[in-house]
Amino acid sequence: MFPVHRPRRLRDHPVLRRMARETRLHRENLICPLFAVPGKGVRREIASLPGQFHLSVDRLAEAAKAVAGLGIPAVLLFGLPETKNPEGSGAWAEDGIVPRAVRAVKQAAPELAVLTDVCLCEYTTHGHCGVPVQRQGQVRVDNDATLPLLARTAVAHARAGADMVAPSDMMDGRVAAIRQALDAAGFTHLPILSYAAKHASAFYGPFREAADSAPQEGDRAGYQMDPANGREALAEMAADWQEGADALMVKPALPCLDLLRQARRRFTVPLAAYQVSGEYAMIEAAAARGWLDRDRAMWETLTAIRRAGADWIVTYYAQAAARGLRA
Ligand code: PBG
Repeated sequence: MFPVHRPRRLRDHPVLRRMARETRLHRENLICPLFAVPGKGVRREIASLPGQFHLSVDRLAEAAKAVAGLGIPAVLLFGLPETKNPEGSGAWAEDGIVPRAVRAVKQAAPELAVLTDVCLCEYTTHGHCGVPVQRQGQVRVDNDATLPLLARTAVAHARAGADMVAPSDMMDGRVAAIRQALDAAGFTHLPILSYAAKHASAFYGPFREAADSAPQEGDRAGYQMDPANGREALAEMAADWQEGADALMVKPALPCLDLLRQARRRFTVPLAAYQVSGEYAMIEAAAARGWLDRDRAMWETLTAIRRAGADWIVTYYAQAAARGLRA
């Protein structure tokens, strides 16, 4: 092709480079995760996630207002309950930490879409995402016994005013169970964003410290997917879509760009990617040592996730990126 074709011609001038750019990040692509904790006036930096905070409901409402002010359309709420128990009943309590946070955010920033993470691991003493059973001396999670608890949790979030629920537990059939429960409770209009392809990933490490949700015994490999599996990821997404999921999520993001690309071709619904805690912490840690440029790493990773096919990106960089996009 050379010398007829010289790709550098369109790289020569900054304006031409800008015109030739194929992938763009918009504020509308961003979803900002927030962590609600008990108490009042609490704004405590999370050690494993520098720049992210544990926020009591009052402070979280302020934070949500700031998020909305940056033009970010949505938040994803996680909650740390006052106390945990083996059932994880804090997850579906009508006055639990997430329902209270939802109500406060809806009041403080009505223009914001409030998404809630539906799972039990933050609420259970054992730290698993469902009901544990002992089998052959090892802890397992009972799939079908977990479904009604997840459904109850989703309905509690809906009653509090959530705009979309996002189940992250990886139980089989949970989208159908949640859909049925929402419909029966009068929430036929409420969409489900399913964490459909979720790997049992090392990159959730910092989150488990942030959400105090590490399993006390065993791991999540019995319900989250083997990171080696891509065909299975597409099957998981197809199943969730058939069960009524309105949007599908792939998680983690950067290790799964191939899955995002394939899913983009195969599914027509909005596709989300979660740039998880470990992906964020990796950049932050390296940047703190001066080993890479934080902002450039942020833009490059977020753009790569978009390029692979994500419409929505759940990212701890939501606010930093929105600030940059505004400038
Ligand atoms: C709850 C949940 C987790 C994450 C989102 N929802 C943790 C896990 O599955 O262990 C991870 C988010 C992150 O790492 O940023 N099940």
